[in-house]
Amino acid sequence: MLPVEILINEHRLIERFVKLVKQEMEKIVETQKIEPNFIVVAVDFFRTYADRYHHGKEEGILFQGLSQKKLSETDEKIMLELTMEHAYARKTVRDLESSKETYLAGKAEALKDILQLLKALVELYPMHIEKEDKHFFLPSMTYFTTQEQEEMLNRFMDFNRDFTDKKYQQVIRILES
Ligand SMILES: [Fe+2]
Ligand SMILES: [Fe+2]
Repeated sequence: MLPVEILINEHRLIERFVKLVKQEMEKIVETQKIEPNFIVVAVDFFRTYADRYHHGKEEGILFQGLSQKKLSETDEKIMLELTMEHAYARKTVRDLESSKETYLAGKAEALKDILQLLKALVELYPMHIEKEDKHFFLPSMTYFTTQEQEEMLNRFMDFNRDFTDKKYQQVIRILES
């Protein structure tokens, strides 16, 4: 098993969450109301699962390992884009959280900002995931020896052992039902 297969599998959960966000956006447009609890769940999912757990391995282990290698110009460029997209996602999630606070403080006009921020996330993730799944992860493996790949796989598994993703699997199952 290639280490990136772990990352590719995690993308499927992010895609399921993106679908739920799209459904919630339709509800917001229809009712002109924000369900603050959904925003709390979304902030936690994107911040904890997508960022700390998933991007944490991408940046902290894979990109870190690649930074020790001489990359092709294309791969170097994609890795930089991916890193910037992670930073953009982080900022968008921060803004989403503060817009929710503004909305809860009684400023109804924050609804428009919340919708825009959710839209930014549901547009970013499918594009970002496709870039990784189809254009980056597999080529990135060619820079590592079989032994380095095995070590990376072990590091990914150690990382995941310290973090339970069951909560997020469950949250998504509940929201989907
Ligand atoms: Fe990523
Ligand atoms: Fe990813």
